[in-house]
Parts: sequence; C-alpha cells; structure tokens
Amino acid sequence: MQPFYFEPESSREQKYLSLLPQVEALLSDENDTIANMANVSSALKSFFDFHWVGFYRNIDGVLVLGPFQGTLACTRIDFGKGVCGTSAAEKKTIIVPDVDLFEGHIACSSLSKSEIVVPCVHDGIVQFVLDIDSDVLNDFDEKDAYYLEKIVRLFIRDDKANP
Ligand code: SME
Repeated sequence: MQPFYFEPESSREQKYLSLLPQVEALLSDENDTIANMANVSSALKSFFDFHWVGFYRNIDGVLVLGPFQGTLACTRIDFGKGVCGTSAAEKKTIIVPDVDLFEGHIACSSLSKSEIVVPCVHDGIVQFVLDIDSDVLNDFDEKDAYYLEKIVRLFIRDDKANP
C-alpha cells in the first residue's frame, strides 16, 4: 500500500481531486468496510485537518459510531435525530453552516462550528453516514458535498456483502 500523498498548499478542490483516486485504489484492494472507514477517516482528517471525521453505521435502524478521527463522540443516534439522523432519515446530504442554528444538533464537541453529513444509500437503504465537523463556521459547500458523495459511493460493492 502506498502512503497517501497531497500537496500541502493545494486548494480544497485540488486535494479532493488528489484524494479520490487514492481512496478508490485503497478500497479496491480491501473489502472490509470497517478497515476502509478507518483509513478514509484518517485520510480526510490528514488532508483537510477537519476537527472530526467519522462514520455512523446503520445497525438495525440505529446509527452506531464507527471508525473516526477526533475527540470522543456519542455512540448511538436515532434516525431523525441530530444532523446525522436527519441526513439518514431524509437520505440526503446536509450542510450545516452554523451548528448552533440547527435545531436538534447533537453537540459532541464545543469546538464544532459547522458540519456536513453525507449518507451512503444502497438499494434504497442507508448503509452509513459520513460525518465531518469543522471548528470553522460555514466551512462546507456544494463542492464538499459533490466530492464526499463520490467518496461514500466508492464503498458500494457489487457483492452487497460490504455494505
Ligand atoms: N453533530 C452530530 C453528532 C455526531 S458528532 O458531531 C461526532 C449530529 O448532530 O448528528
């Protein structure tokens, strides 16, 4: 396995463009979802220095904390609750420019200021959500949604086993 590489001075979009093929190669070499989530959360944290990056998996209809990089986080989130549960219930990416203005936001760290949650939907079922918190207000836009949605889709496999 090659170490992930990016130009430190590059723009966020350039970093996504560099990251995508590297994630694609990583995921094509390994079919264990937990291992892949661990490496993808590490890659996103190191490329962008986000405050918190992690996954919540749909386990019997509840979002359960999976691999992540960052500070301690709540372990279970019901569909419809918080940003993650809302994203899972609505099966769509949610960008929150200011977490204090999102009714029902679940605060795991007082340093989180903005957030993006991207669901992975396969065969109509939410498999997991990717949650990223930033310590900067209004840190995410449609470009982040575009590239992060591409990244979560890389987890979908034909064998359906994983996930
Ligand atoms: N803020 C999320 C909870 C998870 S933490 O940010 C790690 C939410 O409102 O769903």
